[in-house]
Amino acid sequence: MSDFSSLGLSDWLIKQCKQLGINKPTPVQENCMPAILEGRDCMGCAKTGSGKTAAFVLPVLQKLSGDPYGIFCLVLTPTRELAYQIAEQFRVLGKPLGLRDCIVVGGMDMVSQALELSNQPHVVVATPGRLADHIRSSNTFSMRKIQFLILDEADRLLEQGCTDFTKDLEVILGVLPTKRQTLLFSATLTDTLQDLKRLAMNKPFFWESTSETRTVEELDQRYILTPEKVKDAYLVHLIQTFTDEHDDWSIIIFTNTCKSCQILTMMLRQFDFPTISLHSMMKQKQRFANLSMFKASVYKILIATDIAARGLDIPTVQVVINHNTPGLPKTYIHRVGRTARAGRNGVSITLVTQYDIHLVHAIEEQSQTKMKEFAVEEKEVLKILTQVNVTKRECEIRLESTDFDEKKEINKRKQMILEGKDPDMEAKRKAELEKIRSQKRKFKERIQKNIEGQKRGELKRKFKSKNIKKKTKQGTD
Ligand SMILES: Nc1ncnc2c1ncn2[C@@H]1O[C@H](COP(=O)(O)OP(=O)(O)OP(=O)(O)O)[C@@H](O)[C@H]1O
Ligand SMILES: [Mg+2]
Repeated sequence: MSDFSSLGLSDWLIKQCKQLGINKPTPVQENCMPAILEGRDCMGCAKTGSGKTAAFVLPVLQKLSGDPYGIFCLVLTPTRELAYQIAEQFRVLGKPLGLRDCIVVGGMDMVSQALELSNQPHVVVATPGRLADHIRSSNTFSMRKIQFLILDEADRLLEQGCTDFTKDLEVILGVLPTKRQTLLFSATLTDTLQDLKRLAMNKPFFWESTSETRTVEELDQRYILTPEKVKDAYLVHLIQTFTDEHDDWSIIIFTNTCKSCQILTMMLRQFDFPTISLHSMMKQKQRFANLSMFKASVYKILIATDIAARGLDIPTVQVVINHNTPGLPKTYIHRVGRTARAGRNGVSITLVTQYDIHLVHAIEEQSQTKMKEFAVEEKEVLKILTQVNVTKRECEIRLESTDFDEKKEINKRKQMILEGKDPDMEAKRKAELEKIRSQKRKFKERIQKNIEGQKRGELKRKFKSKNIKKKTKQGTD
């Protein structure tokens, strides 16, 4: 394995790396950094926790030190927390340069962001929505001279998921120079490769780690098969076991909705577990505060939606629990990648109900790994089942008496207005669509029934004619 100086990295940056315990380049750094330093576009696909951030931060800082001006580099990323984490890496590694960065994310004060942008920071780290808002609404800053555009978690930024970034990206790309270096990184790039190639323009250097599996070897991947009703009792039992056995472990629990995130947090707190949550219905300041407290181990358990699934680097996380089996294998790969990072060990446990078995198969196929069953004393789980379910129901009732659902509805309406849609018209359209869908479903069911009826009829006929043949044969014998 080569060292950083043979890759062309300057001494001052090597010194900075050493201070952070970064002594030898990881494969993604070893392979991508020379290409970036040569001036090529680059796409890097490497497993979670393998040092992709430094693979782009270091070459950018090196180039910036040769010709420092602002705005030199723009980094886009799908979540606000990740934007802060990336900016911190730039700040720490770029300290000797007196690096000035600016973080542009939603949920934070827009005026101060605009002021910072107009002061020509060297590096801007942004989520696409808020940056596009700034571009649409002001002309006090220019990105016409940027040298680097970096898309971290590039596949998420370009796919049309529940948050669709494509329109905002169009706005941003419209104000960037065409002559620039474009760098794309993710642990799951390959599925959206064609889309990505359109962005990186001059013969991109593509590097993907050669390993067969898409998750790291240090990760022990487990599952527990459980009926839906017993799931929470398993969760409580697991946390109790881990906290009894290891006082220095932190746990992230992923769940699929903000509401479930909130209820589970309330429930675990009833059992006196030091729990905190992270989801998109929380105020941004609260989101940052909760994450900081979890990072500082003030709280050992974080319950989060998929906003925490990608990129977050928290070394103390030893366990990831999937309270729901993720519908997309990609989501699973990123979620479980919050542990077993940078060569450390970690465990992931996925709670699987009878309805999720096909999802587990899809995950295993895509990640090229097999989950093993996690052995649990079922007797112990059944002992706490009633208490857990009653406590959860109480928490649900408590949450229903607050304005949680109402807030969600208001947030949705706000979002639609921001997107230039009429919320009432949208509701009408949705209801009509649902009506058509339900008619289609009923129609399909009727056809299915008819086909099954026909099949049964045919079988009966076949059976009858077989019997008749048998009887006539017996008669002739
Ligand atoms: N060469 C290195 N040697 C040791 N540690 C490193 C090295 N490079 C980076 N690290 C550390 O590894 C950890 C994970 O790095 P990073 O967050 O960049 O991973 P990633 O590949 O971006 O993962 P993800 O896909 O989850 O975003 C960080 O704490 C970082 O400081
Ligand atoms: Mg990353």
